[in-house]
Amino acid sequence: MTGRVSSGIPGLDELIEGGFVKNSINLVSGATGTGKSIFGLQYIWHGLQNGENGVYISLEQEPENIFDDVRGFGWRFDQYIEEKKCIIEYLPSWKLEELPVVVTEKINEIKAKRFVLDTLTLVASRLDKIAIRAEISEFLSQLKKSDVTSLLLSEIPEGTKTLSRFGIEEFLADSIVILHYLEFAAGGVPRSLTIRKMRRTDHGTDIYPLSITKNGLVIKK
Ligand SMILES: Nc1ncnc2c1ncn2[C@@H]1O[C@H](COP(=O)(O)OP(=O)(O)OP(=O)(O)O)[C@@H](O)[C@H]1O
Ligand SMILES: [Mg+2]
Repeated sequence: MTGRVSSGIPGLDELIEGGFVKNSINLVSGATGTGKSIFGLQYIWHGLQNGENGVYISLEQEPENIFDDVRGFGWRFDQYIEEKKCIIEYLPSWKLEELPVVVTEKINEIKAKRFVLDTLTLVASRLDKIAIRAEISEFLSQLKKSDVTSLLLSEIPEGTKTLSRFGIEEFLADSIVILHYLEFAAGGVPRSLTIRKMRRTDHGTDIYPLSITKNGLVIKK
């Protein structure tokens, strides 16, 4: 049986045979404000509660802003960071070339089991079109060699039917979870989640209502 890594999102693991496939690379896609960053941080936080170290690299936000965003959920990362169980770092765009090295270094430094990149889109958007596929696939094969289960957050342009911004990230990932936000939802449930693919997994295929509670993301029953 394939090992599984719990997502930390109540209600999700039971739809994906217990969690993400161990050592897999998973795309979490969605338009702006759909909860991608919360998803990623909840995944890291859940790992920390279960003795699994985690690395979160943001290309978007300084750690202080990230801490402020999730304080309301009761996720206090500082203690884990001090204990070298968690690394949350901002990598500015002018340092993007260092990303593969930084990622490997940080993962090895704390023997992380979980890795989140926020966002893969920002990596790709700064690369030459032809280089994107080669660069990303090289980065992913490097990730595959480490002993981590990764979430790569990815932006979908608002109102489109694509699964990712560049249309190539999805082929390289082992799974795709999509977060949706329907502004004028009938029945008043604007947030939902779908599992578009997950290799080696008999996954749920419905549209699952999602909400952001005081404990973070939850799939509503
Ligand atoms: N404490 C909270 N309770 C309920 N909803 C919240 C709370 N905090 C944030 N949200 C919702 O989550 C959204 C932000 O989630 P998040 O930052 O994870 O989205 P994102 O997909 O990463 O967006 P971005 O494009 O900005 O990166 C907010 O717009 C708000 O709707
Ligand atoms: Mg975000």
